[in-house]
Amino acid sequence: MKIAILPGDGIGTEIVAEAVKVLKVLDLKFEMESVLVGGAAYEAHGHPLPEATLKLAKESDAILFGAVGDWKYDKLDRPLRPEQAILGLRKNLGLFANFRPAICYPQLVDASSLKRELVAGLDILIIRELTGDIYFGQPRGRRVSPDGHFLGSEEAFDTMRYSRPEIERIARVAFDAARKRGKRVTSVDKANVLETFQLWKDVVTEIGKEYPDVALDHMYVDNAAMQLVKAPKKFDVVVTGNMFGDILSDAAAMLTGSIGMLPSASLNDKNQGLYEPSHGSAPDIAGKGVANPLATILSAAMMLRFSLNQPEAAERIEKAVDAVLTQGLRTPDIYSEGTTKVGTVEMGNAVVKALK
Ligand code: IPM
Ligand code: MG
Repeated sequence: MKIAILPGDGIGTEIVAEAVKVLKVLDLKFEMESVLVGGAAYEAHGHPLPEATLKLAKESDAILFGAVGDWKYDKLDRPLRPEQAILGLRKNLGLFANFRPAICYPQLVDASSLKRELVAGLDILIIRELTGDIYFGQPRGRRVSPDGHFLGSEEAFDTMRYSRPEIERIARVAFDAARKRGKRVTSVDKANVLETFQLWKDVVTEIGKEYPDVALDHMYVDNAAMQLVKAPKKFDVVVTGNMFGDILSDAAAMLTGSIGMLPSASLNDKNQGLYEPSHGSAPDIAGKGVANPLATILSAAMMLRFSLNQPEAAERIEKAVDAVLTQGLRTPDIYSEGTTKVGTVEMGNAVVKALK
């Protein structure tokens, strides 16, 4: 088993180091190789996703990814910006199925910005399509407007598009996942306005007929955003497109107390996967040793379960995370009165200790 370690930028290097520590105490046989990605790779090699990084990712069974990006790269041409690294990995490896579980640990109910009764016991799974939609649709670009009211003005455009097979495969992923848990799927669309999402809704409905044991409902994305903060526990599995999934998963993260708690898995049809926290590189707190490593550590657990076929080891990590929270240890993002504030390394060490 081979794991590619891609720490990236900002807090990425700090949190990935803790997850690697955790993986190392498991006594499992895997090879780990670390390479630069994002802004760090741009600095060293002139490109955010160098050939060697992509090659290592392709050859590995799984990729543990930190985060990429820094405001200082905002002025670079788009193909050279750090974000292109993660988008390029998703596209090149065909990582179309993104799992973002939002679980509110009982120990953290008071860290959420929502009332405790709304989030206590929360366990929802957002499944975001990750290689299509307006993120990747062609054509896109800037030009002089060739028509319409603003003929001759500068304009920019992106293309939202989904094909039937893309919707079919992500729908199946969602229904299969729902079968293993609450047996309910909410498909989020904007079929009242967008052709793309009318097709989405039609295809998800068709695939749903293959799963009579799973209840399917449909929700417009604006309503879904509202329901997520009004009655989040009503959801089980949410399946949606790339763009809506990006937005809704950040909202769902706050239900759990902190985006620093939200792991993710991005899988292709061979179960090869990229595992990353759902949060970004947080340049504002980088280098201060205060970032929460738990989302990355929990992503490593997802990696063991989904790509490396080590469910017991995954469970051990999840129990260790639960234990350190019960001990009252908190990074600043999840701190509340009466708990013990710790830094990134201390939190990682505590998880390692709980594992032993
Ligand atoms: C995410 C991030 C990325 C996305 C960025 C960094 C390109 O926000 O994984 O949610 O938009 O997909
Ligand atoms: Mg996002």
